[in-house]
Amino acid sequence: MKAIEITSYGAPEVLRVAERPDPVAGAGELLIRVAASGVNRPDVLQRKGHYPVPPGASDLPGLEVAGEIVSGDAAALAEAGFKVGDRVCALIAGGGYAELCVAPVAQCLPVPKGWSDLEAASLPETFFTVWSNVFERGRLQKGETLLIQGGSSGIGVTAIQIAKALGATVIVTAGSDDKCEACLKLGADHAINYRTSDFVEEAKKLTGGKGVDVVLDMVAGDYVAREVECLAEDGRLVIIAVQGGVKSEINAGLVLRRRLTITGSTLRPRPVAFKGAIAKALREKVWPLLESGAIKPVIHSTFAAAGEPSGAAQAHALMESNQHIGKIVLTW
Ligand SMILES: NC(=O)c1ccc[n+]([C@@H]2O[C@H](COP(=O)([O-])OP(=O)(O)OC[C@H]3O[C@@H](n4cnc5c(N)ncnc54)[C@H](OP(=O)(O)O)[C@@H]3O)[C@@H](O)[C@H]2O)c1
Repeated sequence: MKAIEITSYGAPEVLRVAERPDPVAGAGELLIRVAASGVNRPDVLQRKGHYPVPPGASDLPGLEVAGEIVSGDAAALAEAGFKVGDRVCALIAGGGYAELCVAPVAQCLPVPKGWSDLEAASLPETFFTVWSNVFERGRLQKGETLLIQGGSSGIGVTAIQIAKALGATVIVTAGSDDKCEACLKLGADHAINYRTSDFVEEAKKLTGGKGVDVVLDMVAGDYVAREVECLAEDGRLVIIAVQGGVKSEINAGLVLRRRLTITGSTLRPRPVAFKGAIAKALREKVWPLLESGAIKPVIHSTFAAAGEPSGAAQAHALMESNQHIGKIVLTW
């Protein structure tokens, strides 16, 4: 099969098309003929050598795919209600930038009705991450307020749409007025340009001084202290990335006076059973929203993976330019 390899750590050009042996599905797994592969910021970190591959995972980049089931563990397929020929999208721990990809059956979901494979390939990584962090760890409830840092990111556009569909008020930050506008169009109630306004002051103003109930943070660093300041009583801060650094000096007095929770997680190294439980929750609570049109795909660009040079390099260069709004997808 053709695949995209990280030939050495470095600039996007280190991503090259290569021939690899076809992978084989083992117990509890299925093999997918990949139609499209989603691109995520963690792929960029891996390409640069900043995101080690978990033990047992493919060294090829790519955390999500969509396509057709070619073969698989018959018992596991039957138990999940899948058969050869069905179209699925899958969360994987690596190996998604390839024509063929093995995935645990538990981490596969049907391509939602009305969605193309290309659109479905943009779903797993951000939907699993947002569900697990905002709704399970962060316990966001209907009627509560969510502050999303980086509202126009792949993660952000997912969090905006699920939170709105489930009845929360959504405030986002973004780095330009155009990105703020795009977030409002997707349903966010308020958007703060973090380069020209102070998000702590704005979030307090927008909530009548109460503060927000949940913050989804992909920046960390000095943002953590500021997020602690803008949380309401019993507020929850969920950290999913540390783009702004790993250290912060927080006011611990606020944590105890307001009974705050500071938590976070990283999805990739978690076991199949954990990811399978998220898949079940998504199928029950979120897939109907995708099929009804309440949640729509937000795809900024697509690139042909197997082109010469590979579109994967262009996709990564675009992601690092931060010009995109929503998702970037590779097609095969
Ligand atoms: N923990 C996990 O399991 C997990 C899983 C998936 C992804 N992630 C992380 O989640 C983040 C988003 O992933 P993605 O694939 O959606 O990437 P992406 O589309 O490239 O988004 C990165 C975002 O970070 C925002 N950002 C950077 N500095 C900021 C700041 N100071 N204030 C507010 N926003 C800021 C950017 O916003 P502007 O361009 O507007 O500045 C951009 O929207 C990445 O850091 C990724 O590593 C974590």
